[in-house]
Amino acid sequence: MHRNSREWVFYVFLCFGVIYVKLGALSSVVALGANIICNKIPGLAPRQRAICQSRPDAIIVIGEGAQMGVDECQHQFRYGRWNCSALGEKTVFGQELRVGSREAAFTYAITAAGVAHAITAACSQGNLSNCGCDREKQGYYNQEEGWKWGGCSADVRYGIDFSRRFVDAREIKKNARRLMNLHNNEAGRKVLEERMKLECKCHGVSGSCTTKTCWTTLPKFREIGYALKEKYNAAVQVEVVRASRLRQPTFLKIKQIRSYQKPMETDLVYIEKSPNYCEEDAATGSVGTQGRLCNRTSPHAEGCDMMCCGRGYNTHQYTKVWQCNCKFHWCCFVKCNTCSERTEVFTCK
Ligand SMILES: *[C@@H]1O[C@H](CO)[C@@H](O)[C@H](O)[C@H]1NC(C)=O
Ligand SMILES: *[C@@H]1O[C@H](CO)[C@@H](O)[C@H](O)[C@H]1NC(C)=O
Ligand SMILES: *[C@@H]1O[C@H](CO)[C@@H](O)[C@H](O)[C@H]1NC(C)=O
Repeated sequence: MHRNSREWVFYVFLCFGVIYVKLGALSSVVALGANIICNKIPGLAPRQRAICQSRPDAIIVIGEGAQMGVDECQHQFRYGRWNCSALGEKTVFGQELRVGSREAAFTYAITAAGVAHAITAACSQGNLSNCGCDREKQGYYNQEEGWKWGGCSADVRYGIDFSRRFVDAREIKKNARRLMNLHNNEAGRKVLEERMKLECKCHGVSGSCTTKTCWTTLPKFREIGYALKEKYNAAVQVEVVRASRLRQPTFLKIKQIRSYQKPMETDLVYIEKSPNYCEEDAATGSVGTQGRLCNRTSPHAEGCDMMCCGRGYNTHQYTKVWQCNCKFHWCCFVKCNTCSERTEVFTCK
């Protein structure tokens, strides 16, 4: 999934480049390029294809944002049985999990947040038409705290709104899973919004703070990854409530007897229990753990016992060689010894 999304981002760039050079006239280029590109991207819903065609500059940024989400997911789950890989249909957003599990919840939240993050960052750097710095936060003076808005405040509301329009547009089926996905998309974006930072700078002679200007900035995406990982650990099982007459899934409530509580906005929610991800299984999208590296001595998730699900592990021995005991000789060279060590790695059977 990793390689593949990266490949299409590259492909998009390449297409633009080639067509641009050949024709030279920007408007026709964009129109022509967009048509070709938008029809080649796998798994776009009709409304997404329309957005792609009208905003070809944004589609590259969307791809980068989705990739950032996938990369962060792989980082957060690198020691888990589920490592963010899935079998199944390839889309812009990586591979889809078929089961409405908490893992699926995480992937939806992190990609929705990734797209909002990337769009907001691109706006701040002037890379996209139609957006820029947050104009509402310009010139306004905060009387109580004695500072004024200055610099370029990241327009996170634009990024979030764009993510909402584009990412949510893939939910075309009217079922419980749609409600789950939309909730998790929104939770991801909300977590991003809550973690926006205020940065300030003092102006005045020799460091005095006669005037102070502040602006909002995006958090590092890693921070969003950790925040959403915690939400994943505390994810809430929900069930769908159907409207009385048409029996259509209408909203989600926490799955508990005699409870009519709705989940919180920032909760990740799931409707199905997770598979154990031990074996490859196309029905659940599990790729299994065969061949995964594991740690023989760790009692945790990355330990061979847990990772290999009791199937045992293979031992691979190899010799690690590196330069060591380097000494500086006057003058002027460095002399090193070669050190080596036999090491072992373990992979699941
Ligand atoms: C904005 O565009 C510049 C130049 O093409 C690029 O280096 C930079 O990474 C872009 N920034 C974002 C946030 O996309
Ligand atoms: C995840 O695990 C699968 C199955 O062992 C492996 O093929 C894949 O490369 C892993 N992905 C990452 C990102 O480590
Ligand atoms: C394996 O796990 C043990 C105990 O958790 C840890 O001390 C060790 O550094 C780990 N080894 C590797 C190669 O990660």
